[in-house]
Amino acid sequence: MDKFLVRGGRPLKGKIEISGAKNSALPCLAATLLTAETVTLHNVPYVRDLITQRRLLEDLGATVLTPELRTHKVTANNVQIFEAPYELVKTMRASVLALGPLLARFGQAKVSLPGGCAIGTRPIDLHLKAFEALGAVVSLESGDVIARAPDGRLKGAELAFEKVTVTGTENVMMAASLAEGTTIIRNAAMEPEVVDLADLLNKMGARIRGAGTDTIEIDGVETLGAAEHTIIPDRIETGTFIVAAAITNGELEIKNCVPEHLSPVIEKLREAGVEIEEINPSTLLVKRSAGGLKAKDVTTEPHPNFPTDMQAQYMALMTQADGTSVVTETIFENRFMHVGEMQRMGADIHVAGNTATVKGPAKLTGAKVIASDLRASASLVLTALAAEGETLIDRVYHIDRGYETIVRKLRSVGADIERLSDSAVEAEAA
Ligand code: EPZ
Repeated sequence: MDKFLVRGGRPLKGKIEISGAKNSALPCLAATLLTAETVTLHNVPYVRDLITQRRLLEDLGATVLTPELRTHKVTANNVQIFEAPYELVKTMRASVLALGPLLARFGQAKVSLPGGCAIGTRPIDLHLKAFEALGAVVSLESGDVIARAPDGRLKGAELAFEKVTVTGTENVMMAASLAEGTTIIRNAAMEPEVVDLADLLNKMGARIRGAGTDTIEIDGVETLGAAEHTIIPDRIETGTFIVAAAITNGELEIKNCVPEHLSPVIEKLREAGVEIEEINPSTLLVKRSAGGLKAKDVTTEPHPNFPTDMQAQYMALMTQADGTSVVTETIFENRFMHVGEMQRMGADIHVAGNTATVKGPAKLTGAKVIASDLRASASLVLTALAAEGETLIDRVYHIDRGYETIVRKLRSVGADIERLSDSAVEAEAA
């Protein structure tokens, strides 16, 4: 089990290059199943979840070539299996993104119901209801979702999600691309990753309008074809490194990012005393303002509001802010697993239901802590970077799921952090 050893108290200074967005690359890789022609994706982040997604495509019969580490050329012209097995889905719930494409192209799909995870039960009932609205027959058999299009092809329909769901919107957008007739998705997710997927699908010949708004219209087509696409930068990795600069009282130049993709995060951090300057359209210069960090409340909500994936990282920063802040989590029912670990390092946080009250600034000292999920592990690294002394973070395989070579990136700007057992993922990408 990999561990990180962090010696905190050092301001980070230098340049960070942001990698491709994990949560865009995952649906975009799934979308390659919609055509027998070759789809080339650039800027795919070298992280564990994408290695898993690539394995899923190969298990289904697709050919995946990587002429460069972060370029995937996928040809799904020989898909013989229409099933995403439990072994894969249990390690990565985003495998459910294979459902829509398999159902749309082959009229059938069998995907293991993803289990819950640390942050919540994470059902996919809304995905399944939407597929039924498109005419699919969906049944559950011993833990597997089995979906079939009765006469081989889905039918366009008007549907509304009762809750905003990011992968639900993505799954249905992919399925509707090959359906007969027009589909209208209301209460659609508006995340930048949904827009990036729509851009890829339209390059493949789909006819999608309105991605990025809460109403998406898709005119189904007979077939989709080849395309080449570059995955957008990771807005959550960007936000994480902005916090890293502020929490260590350093100064970072963050390159290859898209500031408007994380405008709610930038706005909130500026309010909280972080100086964020756009020195060109894809570069931010970040440091703590002279006035210091101020406690500011935050509530997580679907885009274009403050993202749940930045909640733990923001909480780490608030432990160092002057005053009391209230962090409210409205998306997932159990996304405060990092609180107990931060308290071990001296943070003053009190949880009541879906709100956490943070009193700062708290003196943080290094301790042994355990990561529970991807973003919680990132928040523990941030807290450790600000703490006096040594922190040993266990189970950092969580962080390898979504942050490309994070140890190398942090060391390159002066962090004293080392991985105690070399992970193939990081070593290979170095
Ligand atoms: C996506 O997960 C992201 N993952 C998550 O990022 C992110 O936290 C989440 O969106 C919210 O922004 C990927 O894109 C691969 P949802 P997703 O469906 O699509 C409930 C990370 O750290 N819901 O938008 O699974 C659900 O339980 C990960 O990178 C249903 O009830 O999230 C949650 O409470 C973590 N039924 C809420 O909706 C459903 O059928 C939002 O979930 C679907 C969702």
